[in-house]
Amino acid sequence: MARVALVTGGTRGIGAEISIALQTAGRTVVATYASNDQAAEAFSKVTGIKVYRFNAAKFEECSDALKKIVAEVGPIEILVNNAGITRDGTLQKMDRDMWDAVIDTNLGSCYNLCKLTFDSMRNAKFGRIVSIGSVNGQAGQYGQVNYAAAKSGIHGFTKALAQEGARFGITVNAIAPGYVDTEMVRAVPPEVLQKIIARIPVGRLGKPTDISRGVVFLTADDCDFVTGSTLSINGGQHMY
Ligand code: CAA
Repeated sequence: MARVALVTGGTRGIGAEISIALQTAGRTVVATYASNDQAAEAFSKVTGIKVYRFNAAKFEECSDALKKIVAEVGPIEILVNNAGITRDGTLQKMDRDMWDAVIDTNLGSCYNLCKLTFDSMRNAKFGRIVSIGSVNGQAGQYGQVNYAAAKSGIHGFTKALAQEGARFGITVNAIAPGYVDTEMVRAVPPEVLQKIIARIPVGRLGKPTDISRGVVFLTADDCDFVTGSTLSINGGQHMY
C-alpha cells in the first residue's frame, strides 16, 4: 500500500510541485488549501490528486478535516507543512492582524497538523514530517518581522519535535527555501526583487522543483538518519 502524504497549501506554488513530486515518488497524496476553489479544482483535475479545503491555521477545522481524510484515504504517514502567507510591512505599519495571520498560518498550522498526525505516526513506528521554513527565517528580512519570526519558529519547532519522534521512527526536518519563482515572490516590488536577485550567487530565483526534490529526499522511506535538520535551498543567498 502506498503511504499517504498530506501537503498543506498543496494546490498552488511550491506546494503544488511538492504534491506532484510525492505522487511521482509513489505516494498517495492529499493536498489541502484554504480558499482558492478554482485553482484547487483545476489542480485536482490535471493531477488526479485529492484536495480538501480547510484553514490550516484553525485547530478545529484541521481536526474535522483530518478525521474525514483518514476515513477516506488512510492515516497520514508523511506530512508536509507548506501552507504559508505573507503580510509584509515595516513594524511601524504592521498591525496586530498582520502579525497574527502570519504567525497562525505559517507556524500555528505546523502545531495543528503535527498534533493531529503524530499519534498515528507513533503507532505505525514510521513518520516523515517536513516543514517549509525560509531563508528569511534564518537571515531576517526588512519588512517581515512576522514572517521571519514564524519561519524561524519552524526551525526551532523542527529541532524539538525531531527529538520526540526519533525513537518512534519519525523524522522531522525543515527546508529553508530562498526566493522561488512563485506568486508570493512576484508580489515583491520589482525594484526590491531585482536587488534581492543580485545577491543570489547562483544568479536566479529558485524553481519550485528545486524545493520539491528536497522534500522527496527527506521523506524517502530509507531517509531515516536525517532528522532535526534544516536543508537550505537558496542558490547560495545565505550560507548557514
Ligand atoms: N534595508 C534597509 N532599508 C531598507 C530596506 C532594506 N532591506 N528596504 C527598504 N529600505 C528603506 C527604503 O530605502 C526606504 O527608505 P527611505 O524612505 O529613506 O527611502 C524605507 O526603508 C521604506 O521603504 P519602502 O518604501 O520600500 O517601504 P514600504 O513601507 O513601502 O514597503 C516593504 C516596505 C513592504 C517591506 C517593501 O520594502 C517590500 O515589499 N520588501 C520586500 C519584502 C520581502 O522580501 N518579502 C519577501 C516575500 S517572498 C517570501 O517571503 C518567500 C520567502 O520565504 C523567501
